[in-house]
Amino acid sequence: NEPAVGIHDLSFATTEFVLPHTVLAEHNGTDIGKYHHGIGQWSMSVAAADEDIVTMGAAAAAPLVRRHGSDGIRTILFATESSIDQAKSAGIYVHSLLGLDSATRVVELKQACYGATAALQFAVGLVRRDPGQRVLVIASDVSKYELDSPGEATQGAAAVALLVGADPALVRVEEPSGVFTADVMDFWRPNYREAALVDGQESIGAYLLAVQGSWKDYTEQGGRTLDEFAAFCYHQPFTKMAYKAHRHLLNYCGHGVDEDRVSRDLGPTTAYNSVIGNSYTASVYLALAALLDQRDDLDDRPVGFLSYGSGSVAEFFAGTVAPGYRDHLRTTAHRDAIDRRKPVDYVRYRALHEHSFPTDGGDHPTLADTTGPFRLAALRGHKRIYETR
Ligand code: CAA
Repeated sequence: NEPAVGIHDLSFATTEFVLPHTVLAEHNGTDIGKYHHGIGQWSMSVAAADEDIVTMGAAAAAPLVRRHGSDGIRTILFATESSIDQAKSAGIYVHSLLGLDSATRVVELKQACYGATAALQFAVGLVRRDPGQRVLVIASDVSKYELDSPGEATQGAAAVALLVGADPALVRVEEPSGVFTADVMDFWRPNYREAALVDGQESIGAYLLAVQGSWKDYTEQGGRTLDEFAAFCYHQPFTKMAYKAHRHLLNYCGHGVDEDRVSRDLGPTTAYNSVIGNSYTASVYLALAALLDQRDDLDDRPVGFLSYGSGSVAEFFAGTVAPGYRDHLRTTAHRDAIDRRKPVDYVRYRALHEHSFPTDGGDHPTLADTTGPFRLAALRGHKRIYETR
C-alpha cells in the first residue's frame, strides 16, 4: 500500500504595489465594465523596483520552512516563465536566502504557465521514490505585456510555494493525469524581450482546445467523471477564462451549461486571481488557495485541476482534499498579503513598468521600495545581489 502523496502546505506572496483597474480604465478610456465583468479583473499586483521572482518566491516559501523546518527538503523545483537568468536557477537564490542545507538539488522548470504543474508531478514522483523526502515547489512569475496593448489589463505577479510530501495535510494528488501538447504560437517571449508577445484571441482558442484534449486523455486513462468533482481549479490568466474553459468542458462532455453549477464549481477559486492578476504558473495554485480558504465542505472530496501553458501544454488531474485541511490553512496571511499592497497611480505604475536595469555590468543599487522580507538590493558586475530585510 503506497502512502498518499501531495500538497502538505501552501503559502503565497505577492507584490508591494497594486494597480486598480479603474486607474487603467481612466487612462485608456475603457469602460470599466469590460475589465470587471468582461475579463473578471479588479486590480493587478505590480512589483516594486526591488522585487522579482526570487523575492516573491522566498517570501512565499519562508513560512513553510518556519512551520515545518527544512529537514527532508532535498529538492527545490522552481517554476517560472519570467526567468532572471538563462543559466542559473532562481531557486538557488531562494535556497540561499532561506539558509537551506547544501545537500539539496535545485532546478528551474519552464513551459509557460504549465511549469508549476510539471514541478508538482515531478515532486510527487520523487516522494514516491523516497517517501521520507519533501520537495519544495515554488511557482513565481511577473506577468508583463506592452503598455496600451490588450494584454496590459491581464498583468499581475505572485509566487506560490507548495511543500510536497507523503500523507499530505491539504491535497492528495491522484493518478491518472490527462496530458496534451500542441505546437501553437499563442503566447511567447523571445530571449531578447521583457514583455510577452501574444495573439489574444488565438490564445483563448488554444486554451480551450487544450482543455478538451487533456480531458479526453484523462478519461481515456480511466479518470473520474465530471460529476464527481466538488470544484475545479483552472489556470486563470483572467478569471473569466476559467468560466469560458469550464463551459467548454461541460459542452464537450454533453452536459449543457447550467450557470448555477458553473458558479458553484468555480466561484470561490477566482477570489485571489481577480485582484492579483495573471501570475502565470502560480495562478492555478492561487485558485486552489482561494478555494481551500473559502470552502469548508471539501473533506475527502475531489477537485479537478486544469493547468495550461501557452505554446502549448495542458494537464488535467484530480486532487482529493485531505480531511481536516482547514486546520492547516494560512487564510489570514493570504488575505494580509493582498490587503497590504499599496495602490499606485498611473504615473508610478508606468515608471515601474518601464524600469529596467542598465546592462553595462556596473554597480546599480535599487530604490529601497519594498517592505517585504526580501529585496533585490543591487545589480553589481552583472550579478543580482539579494538581501533579507
Ligand atoms: N462591459 C462588459 N463586458 C465587456 C465590455 C463592457 N463594456 N466590453 C467588452 N466586454 C467583454 C467582451 O464581450 C469580452 O467578453 P467575451 O470574451 O465573453 O465575449 C471581454 O469583455 C473581453 O473583450 P475583448 O475580447 O474585446 O477584449 P480584448 O480583445 O481587448 O482583450 C484578451 C482580451 C484577448 C484576453 C487580452 O486581454 C489579452 O490578449 N490577454 C493576454 C492573453 C491571455 O490572457 N490569453 C488567455 C489564454 S492564454 C493563457 O492562458 C496563458 C497565459 O497565461 C497568457
